[in-house]
Amino acid sequence: MKKYIIANWKMNCSKEFVENYANSITKNINHDINFIIAPSHPYLELARSLFNQNIGIAGQDCSEFENGAYTGQISAKNLLDFNCQYCIIGHSESRKFLKYSDSQITGKLSILAKYDITPIYCIGENLKTREDGRYIEFLESQLKSIPSEFLNKQILIAYEPIWAIGSGVIPSSEQIQEVADFIKEFSDKNNFANAGICYGGSVSTVNYQEILDIQNISGLLIGGMALKVGDVNSIIEG
Ligand code: PGA
Repeated sequence: MKKYIIANWKMNCSKEFVENYANSITKNINHDINFIIAPSHPYLELARSLFNQNIGIAGQDCSEFENGAYTGQISAKNLLDFNCQYCIIGHSESRKFLKYSDSQITGKLSILAKYDITPIYCIGENLKTREDGRYIEFLESQLKSIPSEFLNKQILIAYEPIWAIGSGVIPSSEQIQEVADFIKEFSDKNNFANAGICYGGSVSTVNYQEILDIQNISGLLIGGMALKVGDVNSIIEG
C-alpha cells in the first residue's frame, strides 16, 4: 500500500514560499508515496495551479457549518472549490488556540464526509497524560469523535503526541507501535473499514524510515521538515 507523506506548512506560507517550493519539488515522486501538501488557505488556489496533479492538497481546518455568518472560517465547499481532497482536523495547535469542543470536531468530520473530502484527523496526548499513563483512555475519547459516516469512507487518523510536536523529542518505535495497534483495534471494532494510521511529531530525515516501517503505520504528517523542500525531496523521490 502507498504511504502518505503529508506536509503541513502551518502558517509559514507566502507567495514566494509556494512558488519556490513548486519549482524545487521533485518531478519524480516515488510511486509508492502519496504526497500531500497543506498550505494555509489563501494559497490553496496558487498551490493547486503550480503543483502537479499527482500531489494532493489538504486544507488545514474547516468549519462544521455549511455556510452562513461565521466570519473568518472556511467551509468544506470552499475546500472542494479549490480541489482539496483532504483536510486536517483537530490539529493540537487548532485545538489549543481555537478551543474546539468534541462536538465541533465531530461536526467538522461529518461535513467533510458529506463533501467526500478525506479528513486527516489528529489525536494526541500531552506530556502529563502520557506520564500519568492515561494516554490510551485519552486517545480513545478523541477517537470517539469520529462519526458513523466513516464506516464506509476513508479517514486518516494521525497520532501526534503533543510533547513530540516541534520538540525534537520522538516516541520510541514501541510507543508508536502501541498506539498504532490501539487505533487499528478501535477502527476494527467500530467498523471504520477505511481508516489509515499516520504518525506526526518531530519526524526528520533521520527517523522517518524507521517510523514508516512500523506495522499499521501508513504515513507521516510532517511539520518542521515540511518547510525544507530538499529534505522532503530526499524522502519522496523515486
Ligand atoms: P513537527 O510538526 O514535525 O514540526 O513536529 C508536526 C505537526 O504539527 O503536524
